[in-house]
Amino acid sequence: MTDTEDLRSSAPAALRNREAILDVLRKLLPASGRVLEVASGTGEHIVHFARHLTDLEWQPSDPSLQARHSIVAWTQAERLKNILAPLDLDADDSPWPVDHAAAIICINMIHISPWDATVGLMRGAASVLPAGGPLYLYGPFRRADRPLAPSNEAFDRDLRARNARWGLRDLDAVIACGADYGLVFEQCIAMPANNLSVVFRMG
Ligand SMILES: C[S@@+](CC[C@H](N)C(=O)[O-])C[C@H]1O[C@@H](n2cnc3c(N)ncnc32)[C@H](O)[C@@H]1O
Repeated sequence: MTDTEDLRSSAPAALRNREAILDVLRKLLPASGRVLEVASGTGEHIVHFARHLTDLEWQPSDPSLQARHSIVAWTQAERLKNILAPLDLDADDSPWPVDHAAAIICINMIHISPWDATVGLMRGAASVLPAGGPLYLYGPFRRADRPLAPSNEAFDRDLRARNARWGLRDLDAVIACGADYGLVFEQCIAMPANNLSVVFRMG
């Protein structure tokens, strides 16, 4: 591939939310070590984080070949040395094609995939994280104690129309799923546009 820049794709939402997510990650991630991103998509998040958190080694992944091409293209265009080649990682797979990570991040995946992907994410995260290692999720969630914002109601309807197995996940169900694999829910942080950061740690 000679002109990899042509393969860069862009997601407007990633450009809108990356700064707010980076602010959370600065406080959450270890000072050094490998951070695995599950469902890296275009790669715009990971290049942004790698540019700012230079002591960390960043491992992108996505099951989509088109996404992996975009990640490589962004990495090369930004000349970042602290991003590894993207892995073909489907959260459902067992085992994952990676055996350790100091931390794992997963942004806007669990509502745009069947529930099996959430179960796989928890199972896989538990298999690679050390005790105390964080798993960071970002996205919109349903919460038992409050109604969905109208924008999230509409988003959920749209997702379910596209695929009956997609849709906003119930936060309590996600927390319970993590607990099944030894991931301890630590906190959730309100983010712009009715999204949440949800943090687990490996017990
Ligand atoms: C809405 S995009 C989010 C991409 C990126 N994280 C972002 O926020 O811009 C959802 C991504 O999840 C990936 N994905 C879907 N199902 C998956 C699975 N089972 N395991 C891992 N990734 C998956 C898709 O290939 C896609 O890149």
